[in-house]
Amino acid sequence: MVAFNEVTQVKQGEQALRQLAGELEQRVADRTEQLQCEIRERMRAEEEARQRHAELAHVHRVYTAGELATALAHELNQPLAAIGSFAEASLRRLQRGVVAKEFLADNLRQIGAQAERAAAVIRELRAFLAKNNSVRSASDVNVLVRTACTLVESGLRGQGVRIDLDLAPSLPPVMAERIHIEHVLVNLLRNGAEAIRDAAMQDGRIVVRTRHDGDALVRVTVEDSGPGLDAEGTKRVFEPFYTTKAQGLGMGLCISRTVIESHGGKIWAQAGTGGIFHFTLPLAR
Ligand SMILES: Nc1ncnc2c1ncn2[C@@H]1O[C@H](COP(=O)(O)OP(=O)(O)OP(=O)(O)O)[C@@H](O)[C@H]1O
Ligand SMILES: [Mg+2]
Repeated sequence: MVAFNEVTQVKQGEQALRQLAGELEQRVADRTEQLQCEIRERMRAEEEARQRHAELAHVHRVYTAGELATALAHELNQPLAAIGSFAEASLRRLQRGVVAKEFLADNLRQIGAQAERAAAVIRELRAFLAKNNSVRSASDVNVLVRTACTLVESGLRGQGVRIDLDLAPSLPPVMAERIHIEHVLVNLLRNGAEAIRDAAMQDGRIVVRTRHDGDALVRVTVEDSGPGLDAEGTKRVFEPFYTTKAQGLGMGLCISRTVIESHGGKIWAQAGTGGIFHFTLPLAR
């Protein structure tokens, strides 16, 4: 009887062990599958972020080109002026009746070269502006805010700057060129982080707030714990090339204003302790 019981117990033990081994194997397989899924998801997110960075850089180039139209006009002015003076010199010689063939040929070659230079400037500008294929669509501002934060957060790691979100739930959609508005948000977030860094402040904090503003607007506020701006500063910061940074171009806020106003919204800075920037966007109908 005793021997029989022992054999039964051993068999039961073996069966329980086999069952455990099976379960363990299943768990390892499930976890491996889950990890593979997570890796695939992360790679996809990284690829998306890379693409978004490229698109944002493009938007920045396009707006900068707009603001730099004066510089381009200057570039074109030089070859055009040169063409004018070569043509005039040739004409004067012709009118006086003393014209060496070689002189005329040389002047015509110079005119051709200068015209080619002007054409190259125009070609470059057109190539520069060509890839502008974004379209306006009904967008959730909170989603745009989250995307912009994800884009700058990797750059803020190690700088001791934290971003907190205070987003109004169920905001009505706005009509927006998604990437352009994300570009504005990235500019504001970077400025906030740079203000905190330049003032060597500890435990920096940026808060992004979204609110339904009146009947027809959504308002976004980006507030940082940096030194902020005085009344004079709040006006000047939107001027092109206004910068207080060694590496700054002074175009970020000027471009942001162009973007927001082209959407029918407004952007402004508020004086006080801590940088405070607001912008509004009209609701999609
Ligand atoms: N959050 C802020 N707090 C304090 N000052 C700010 C803040 N944001 C902008 N400024 C001031 O406004 C100026 C203009 O900002 P803007 O973003 O247009 O240019 P930038 O940051 O200097 O250069 P970039 O063209 O690279 O963005 C800044 O140089 C800074 O003096
Ligand atoms: Mg800036």
